[in-house]
Amino acid sequence: MNANLIIDRNFKIGGIDPRIYGSFLEQMGRAVYSGIYEPGHESSDKYGFRNDVKDLVKELKPSIIRYPGGNFVSGYNWDDGIGPVSMRPARLDLAWKTVETNEVGLHEFMRWADEVDAEVNMAINLGTRGIDAARNIVEYCNHPGGTYWSDLRRKNGREEPYRIKTWCLGNEMDGPWQIGAKNADDYGKLAAQSAKVMKLVDPEIELVVCGSSAIDMATFASWEATVLEHTYEHVDYLSLHSYYGNQDNDLPGYLAKSLGMNDFISSVSAICDYVKAKTRSKKVMNLSFDEWNIWYHSHEKDSKNEPWQKSPAILEDIYNFEDALLLGCLIITLLKNCDRVKIACLAQLVNVIAPIMTKKGGAAWRQTTFYPFAQASHHGLGVVLRGSMDVSTYACNEFDAVPYVEYAAVHNEEKDEIALFCVNRSPSKVFDLSVTLQGYKPKRIIQSTELCGHDVKQINTAKSCSVIPAPSNAIFNKNVVSAALKPLSWNMLRIGL
Ligand code: AHR
Repeated sequence: MNANLIIDRNFKIGGIDPRIYGSFLEQMGRAVYSGIYEPGHESSDKYGFRNDVKDLVKELKPSIIRYPGGNFVSGYNWDDGIGPVSMRPARLDLAWKTVETNEVGLHEFMRWADEVDAEVNMAINLGTRGIDAARNIVEYCNHPGGTYWSDLRRKNGREEPYRIKTWCLGNEMDGPWQIGAKNADDYGKLAAQSAKVMKLVDPEIELVVCGSSAIDMATFASWEATVLEHTYEHVDYLSLHSYYGNQDNDLPGYLAKSLGMNDFISSVSAICDYVKAKTRSKKVMNLSFDEWNIWYHSHEKDSKNEPWQKSPAILEDIYNFEDALLLGCLIITLLKNCDRVKIACLAQLVNVIAPIMTKKGGAAWRQTTFYPFAQASHHGLGVVLRGSMDVSTYACNEFDAVPYVEYAAVHNEEKDEIALFCVNRSPSKVFDLSVTLQGYKPKRIIQSTELCGHDVKQINTAKSCSVIPAPSNAIFNKNVVSAALKPLSWNMLRIGL
């Protein structure tokens, strides 16, 4: 079978905002406690943060990390997590029915994020709190000094402002499970006023307003329209959240779920443009897909969880090979929408539905889904090219025409290379890929790898990580690059120009 791709240096989708390779660390489960932070662990630094986990996070290379939630943030007092640790209160976390000790708070997290070279996307609480706490946290984090909150930050050991650029105006405020859930009008008004004061404190910040918590919410679309009508001129991005799963054990249908992500992005973009037209605005509202991932393996186990534990093992999905393939398709979909999706956060980062797992007192390892993300975050920067691929399709329950090969081509002008990411969704057919590069003079294949040849249910564990990319064969002749895409494979080709 053939997959013929033509790309042309003049046909571009858009430039990639590096924040498209974001992740998310919620103060829940074992993400922080016994995830990134485990005093007494043999690899921990003097502050109690695990160096082995830091190394894996750096290898994954998330550009920005959303924090501290998620559902957690809607009941969280950020100021519980500052000042001497011994004075910090333990609180009930009503979102996950656990106990939050506040041992790790704002300063500890910011120092850790700096060490792993990631920006922070800070979420504020618009569930139990509002405008006052919103302006205070921005003043605490970003104002240089000479005021109550900025001087308190300095007293607490951080002289320079953190200069956090990206902020979320609450989390999933449409969800009935959310602490302080609101209707679209109430949330829209609160978000607009919170945004206004936050930008009065620091006009440099960028704000993400909550879209629907999922496309299947009954209020989807009208929620977005109403919230944006209240907030359009005050905010910079609208959020999308979506989780995928193979509950029906239907591989062709599962691997096609990235088409649903694409439709979701198109629909939300259309709603933004409707409000742009309605409000006669000149501004284009961009998107922040600030929660996306695969989440279903742990549902059953979590339904039996005992409440009010400290850092219980919840949402610990163990990912398999088919999950890595879908995750690859999802990353490709985000890249193909990079003209609109400027921020995206793989939810989450460590232990909780995460590419990185840890054992308390033991090892840290890479799940199968680690690799497509890491390869894209390292090599998928620059401009996404609008290609044209001639390839056969299949039908599944949800979609009539699913291309067997999904791809994204990224031109990195600084490095003079094109990175091509491809997934072959077919369980049986090899696709002979031929890429015609119009307007380019390819010089060499810098690297080509494939993740393939595993049972779809194969997982990585602390003891054995077999699902990892291996070198593959790709050749070029004049302006055409060729590679055999094996059945069920994630592939990366880096072409030197
Ligand atoms: O990522 C896990 C949870 O999923 C988040 O807390 C919430 O925002 C979403 O429902």
